[in-house]
Amino acid sequence: MPIKANLPPEPEFAAPLAPNHPSPETLRLLALRRSTPVAALSEPGPAADDIDAMLRLAMRVPDHRKLEPWRVLIIAGAARALFGDVLAAARHLRDPDATQDQLAAERALPFRAPLILCVVSSPVHDKKNTPVWEQQLSAGAFCQNLLIASQAMGWAGVWISEDAAYDGHVQAALGLSGHEQIAGFIYLGTAKEQPVERQRATVSNKATRWTG
Ligand SMILES: Cc1cc2nc3c(=O)[nH]c(=O)nc-3n(C[C@H](O)[C@H](O)[C@H](O)COP(=O)(O)O)c2cc1C
Repeated sequence: MPIKANLPPEPEFAAPLAPNHPSPETLRLLALRRSTPVAALSEPGPAADDIDAMLRLAMRVPDHRKLEPWRVLIIAGAARALFGDVLAAARHLRDPDATQDQLAAERALPFRAPLILCVVSSPVHDKKNTPVWEQQLSAGAFCQNLLIASQAMGWAGVWISEDAAYDGHVQAALGLSGHEQIAGFIYLGTAKEQPVERQRATVSNKATRWTG
């Protein structure tokens, strides 16, 4: 059941903040968090004030040299039909032999969920030459913050790229500049099917103690 985010006021610049936040609920969310496959998403979706709240939380992301190297396109409601037209046109350009059914399927993709947040990695060049890689990592962290914030608010969602993220026609239609990339489409809504646990990495397989 979604909840309204009852967030504390945004801290003033330079206000003292706690260095940690012991929170069993956060630990539980991280221990059990699961994406919902996009085909299992449905209406309803977050309202405008929910979207503002989750974006505000997503923006509290690590960001070397405060470059804010990300931005978001909110694709909801009727704009999904326009985005569907873009996806169909992109498919036609990629694959001129695509059938009318295949193009119709592309047009339907944005309607799999009520809300799509397209997170754009938007690295900048600063005097200190902050590596683009670090700025892209910040955009990835932004996507994950967004997933966690939206799930904590009671929404279901998934981070996907599909062909669209890498398609030049889609990137141009969404207004990306040459240096920008789509970090992900975060599809959000309500789960019509419960996701199940998937295979997970284990700490013993992935972590080794470095001893020099
Ligand atoms: C950058 C990125 C792109 C992804 N693109 C897709 C995608 O196009 N289609 C898909 O089914 N899953 C995609 N995934 C995987 C899902 O977001 C998700 O991680 C996966 O279904 C496992 O679920 P979990 O988050 O519960 O571990 C992508 C993940 C990342 C990080």
